Formats: sequence, C-alpha cells, structure tokens
Amino acid sequence: MQTKVMLPCAQSIALAASIFKRGGLVGIPTETVYGLGGDATSADAARAIFRAKGRPQDNPLIVHIYDLRQLEDIVSHIPQTARVLMDAFWPGPLTIIMPRNKKIPREVTAGLETVAVRFPVHPVAQAILKEAGMPIAAPSANLSGRPSPTTAQHVLEDMDGRIELIIDGGACEVGLESTVVDATRGNVVLLRPGGVTKEMLQSALGRPVELGKGVMEPLAQGEQALSPGLMHKHYAPKAKVKVVLGGDAQRAAYISQCAAGDENPCVLCLEAHRRLYGDLPMLSAGCTPDDYAHNLFAALRSADQMGYTTLYAEGLSFEGVGLAVMNRMERAAGFDVIKL
Ligand code: TXA
Ligand code: MG
Repeated sequence: MQTKVMLPCAQSIALAASIFKRGGLVGIPTETVYGLGGDATSADAARAIFRAKGRPQDNPLIVHIYDLRQLEDIVSHIPQTARVLMDAFWPGPLTIIMPRNKKIPREVTAGLETVAVRFPVHPVAQAILKEAGMPIAAPSANLSGRPSPTTAQHVLEDMDGRIELIIDGGACEVGLESTVVDATRGNVVLLRPGGVTKEMLQSALGRPVELGKGVMEPLAQGEQALSPGLMHKHYAPKAKVKVVLGGDAQRAAYISQCAAGDENPCVLCLEAHRRLYGDLPMLSAGCTPDDYAHNLFAALRSADQMGYTTLYAEGLSFEGVGLAVMNRMERAAGFDVIKL
C-alpha cells in the first residue's frame, strides 16, 4: 500500500472521509498528537488499527467526536462529573471515560464496559470528523512503544505502507497526548496527565482529583492498572534515557560528569540552561514547560536519528503541565529518575 501525504484542503478531507467510510485508516492531525483514525462503529476498522500499530489487544482506543449529539450512540449515560468537564474543556485535549453504549464494538474498547471519548479542538480534525459523519477511533499514530508523532513526518516514519493517507496539519500544538480521566467512579480519577492539568480539572470540579495508581510510579508485579495503557512499555527511543531532578547547577554538574563516561551522550534541557553544559551535545526543550511538552517527542525521535546512545533529560516539577511531561519521561526512562 502506498501512503499519500496531503495538506488539508476540501479534496484531501473528502478523500479521508471516503477512506473511513470503506473501513480504511488515515493519519490525522489533532492539537495533542497525530491520530491513526478509523471508523469507531466498525470492528474490522478497529482490528486494522491494532494491526497497523502492532498494538497489544488489551489496550482500548479513544473515540473522537465533532458534535456532542454523537454521544448518544457512544455512551450509555453521561455522569454528572463528565458534564462539568465537557462544559469546561471540550473541545480540547481532554479524554473522558464513560459507560459504553453497545453500538461501540468491543474491539474498540478492548472488551471493557467503558469507552474513552474525546472532542478535539483542532480545526482540521473537526473538519475531517464532520465530513466523515461518524465517530472515529484513533490512538496515537506511532508504532506501539515508540514516541507519539507530533508531525506528519513522524507518522510517515512509522506508518509508511501501513495506511492509505496522512493529512499534514503541521506540528501539534500541545505535543503530548490528551489528559485521560475516568468519570465512571465516585471521584474523578486522572489516568494520564496532559495539557488539561490536574489543577485545571480540580478547579472546574471544585474538588480534588485522584491520581490513578501506576500513573506516576511503576506498578508492582501483578498489580492491575485502571487504564490498560499504564501496563505497557511506552515512548521508548533506542537511546537510554535518564531523567535528572535537582537544582540547575547541581543537575548540570551531575549530568556533565556522568556524560563524560558515555560513548555518545546528549542532554535535553531548557534554553536558559544551555550554557551550563559546555560542549555536551544539546537538544532544546525550548524556554518553558509548555515548550518542553511541545518538543519532547520530537526530541526523543531526533536523539535516535542523530545516533545518541544516552539522553540525559532535565526533569521538571510535578506541577501544571510538568506532571504530564514527567509522566512521559518516566516511562521513556523506564522509571530511571535520578533525584539529587
Ligand atoms: O491525544 C490523544 O488522546 C491522542 C489523539 C490522537 O487523540 N490519542 C491517544 O490515544 O493518545 P492512545 O491510544 O495512544 O492512548 C489512549 C489511552 C491509552 O492509555 C488507553 O489505555 C486509555 O487511553 N484508554 C482508552 N480507553 C480506555 C478505557 N475505557 N478505560 C481506561 N483507559 C482507557
Ligand atoms: Mg499512544
């Protein structure tokens, strides 16, 4: 199969919709990361998504909508907390887990009685979903285990020959996957931190949000996670990743000293710290924690392309978007986090 890459226009959007209607797959831009989309009402399309990604069968997909009226055929009811969060954050980078409507095949939810739903704000994503007229199941458009794609080029690297079309909507603004919350329990539980932060969720709900077990620490062997995604290896570049937390000068001294013993090291750091690392090859995380989120996955991919074998990453505080960045980095590092 030849994979076409097209800019968003009336023609390419119509082509994407026609591919979805016949059960095919399309790489689509969203404000978080690129998605690998297929018809969410089709068990065959869901199976094709799992095949194209090499995704473990037990890891459910997110269903994407462009209109709240679609929810009727996706969920069996809308919990009150979910309504509050939809009002506050949709459309946007928040995925809400609700009880499943039987019209969504079990292949999409990996056998769970709940379904994850997201209403993206990206205009191209909305235009594609609207033209298709159906809910679209879309995991991140990477091969399973690889960093999520934040450009059409990243999607092509992983999906060339596996899907029919990629719509190139430019670099994704947030750069990390959506925040995932479970609204099917008494308290809202945060299962994956993202651009909608824990603080933002709490302020909209007016009460605390629980952090799911296994979200910011490794699960013990045999321990069950609330979200299957937490059980799988993730975001791993070929380079060994080490995350270092500490004061700026102390952290830079530690990294420089360790890197001296490595074959081909580099550091991922904020621009303001560039001068602290001397000649050590540097990948830029940008200037702010938001930039760090935006740049992280591209940096992990380019570390491999440039042949670095060890990547030292400056850790962030676990506040705001820092929690989401640290969640991805901990996983990329296999929880090898050095606290000075
Ligand atoms: O930003 C995003 O969410 C992107 C774009 C394309 O929308 N999609 C994305 O999908 O990141 P994916 O498949 O890479 O991540 C979905 C996560 C997984 O960790 C999965 O386990 C979890 O959501 N998930 C999906 N349905 C669930 C459910 N019913 N219960 C618990 N976790 C669920
Ligand atoms: Mg993913």
